[in-house]
Amino acid sequence: MKKVISILLALCMVLSLCAFALADEETKTVGISMPTKSLERWNRDGEYLQEQFEEAGYEVELTYSDNDITQQNNDVANLIADGVDLLIISAINGESLTQTLTDAEDAGIPVIAYDRLIMNTDVVSYYVSFDNYTVGVLQGQFVIDTLGLDLEDTSKTYNIEFTAGDPADNNAGYFFNGAMDTLKPYIDAGILNVPSGKTEFEQVATPSWSTDTALENMQNTLASYYSDGTVLDVALCSNDSTALGVAQAISSDYAGDNQPLVTGQDGDIANLQNIVDGKQTMTVYKNVSDEAIVTLELSKIMLAGGAPAEELLDSLDVEAAYDTESYDNGTGIIPSYLLVPFVITADNLDLLVDTGLYEWDADNQYLVSTAETT
Ligand code: BGC
Repeated sequence: MKKVISILLALCMVLSLCAFALADEETKTVGISMPTKSLERWNRDGEYLQEQFEEAGYEVELTYSDNDITQQNNDVANLIADGVDLLIISAINGESLTQTLTDAEDAGIPVIAYDRLIMNTDVVSYYVSFDNYTVGVLQGQFVIDTLGLDLEDTSKTYNIEFTAGDPADNNAGYFFNGAMDTLKPYIDAGILNVPSGKTEFEQVATPSWSTDTALENMQNTLASYYSDGTVLDVALCSNDSTALGVAQAISSDYAGDNQPLVTGQDGDIANLQNIVDGKQTMTVYKNVSDEAIVTLELSKIMLAGGAPAEELLDSLDVEAAYDTESYDNGTGIIPSYLLVPFVITADNLDLLVDTGLYEWDADNQYLVSTAETT
């Protein structure tokens, strides 16, 4: 009898240890640090990430830091103190988390840089983003194609102004350079002119990607260089939050009667509305739901102790490339999963409906997010 009892006891112990191990498996927590709720896309990123990780059985701690560097450092420090198993961070300022992340390193918490690369720290294991340089190339090429520019034909010239992103965001330079490298031959040939003379990133950068700052900067440019009737043909904006301000400045302060081409990036709802209304011409769309899917699959393997490479993408229905050349964060190359962006105009808005993330409103006029109606 004694023997039976001790066997039963031993069995119970094994079972409870298994249950404990399973519970531990199930309750892995992922800490997600997003920059701000004030720029539309990060709300979508946070929502998709949270949804997908929770569906996969993880717990999620999600923070937004109001575009405030000190707050993001505090938020990340709190996530580390809470003992999360993995950090997914989209940095407000790529340079400002180095110190805080030494604590993640000490605690053995791996870090994924989400969308924006975190600089000068070797605690970042992977980078998940879109091909940021290509975003700018698509904007530049759109201008070339829409205006029908030809380097052999200098008879017709156009005026263009640039609006770039936040200098603290490592992505911003890639977007600007992609567009500028594509358009520079036409600027050099005198086919594209920049009446303000502002062709350097620093001259056209927009801190915090602020719509209001972009609006003010464009109003100043229009007042200084276009009030004499000079025609503005193109406003090359790196993203939708800046395009929103620029489009507003054009509506209120531009004296010409043409509608300049306005570029953007993201597919924010207000910008999609502007595209329908003809105030913005295109946006470079980045499916952040897919970005969340890649991040989830990568996280699963990392949390199980693995270090995936290209093969991660084999099982996913997401167009992306594994890149071990492009993104050096100052401590070496960070292996990157780069998703593929594409151009949206008034003519192919249905491609967004095909993603399942947008639908036409009741009047079939504007796109709305399906998240709002479900
Ligand atoms: C993102 C863009 C976004 C911008 C402002 C960048 O880091 O890649 O998609 O428009 O931040 O939120």
